[in-house]
Amino acid sequence: MDFTKAIVLALLLMAFSIPVSAQTMDSKDSTRMNPQELKLPENVQTVLIHEMVTITRLMGNLLEYIVQGDTQSASRAALEIRDTNLKQEFNSQEIKKIMKILPKGFIKLDRNFHMTANELSKAVDSNDFKTALTLYKDMTQSCMDCHTAYAANRFENLKE
Ligand code: HEC
Repeated sequence: MDFTKAIVLALLLMAFSIPVSAQTMDSKDSTRMNPQELKLPENVQTVLIHEMVTITRLMGNLLEYIVQGDTQSASRAALEIRDTNLKQEFNSQEIKKIMKILPKGFIKLDRNFHMTANELSKAVDSNDFKTALTLYKDMTQSCMDCHTAYAANRFENLKE
């Protein structure tokens, strides 16, 4: 019974902590609530979409490897996701410009996403597939969070 109470409490805390962190983000990044503001130059948008298609494929593979406990393939897929970054396609001059255009919240979400992929690779390297699955969920949450905040025009049903 106490255990159930603890879980309910934990869930309540989680439910309350989410809007709080979202609020802090809003105050730092005024574009967050206005997805129309993510106006990228066409070449940057093309590369971003390409990155999205690649990580979607890799996430599918990764899930398959995690649920089979395939250490090597899962680790490789996680590292590939970590290293799939739109910056690869641009020189340092261009990257500087892109970083100026991208909202801070976007950069933060992107960075967290790639860092979580790195953590996930470490978890599978030590055959900790339970942690890997939790991190996989965190990564999926990043997809949703970023799409809700910055691509809601495109993905209408994700509007907050
Ligand atoms: C930091 C932000 C961010 C993260 C994280 C992110 N996305 Fe995206 N994604 C976008 C944006 C912005 C678009 C819309 C691009 C456009 O249409 O201009 C997009 C578009 C897409 C598309 C459509 C691509 C197409 O064919 O046009 C897919 C699929 C996608 N994302 C999958 C994912 C998946 C899967 C994840 C997580 C594993 C993810 N995204 C994480 C920002 C993000």
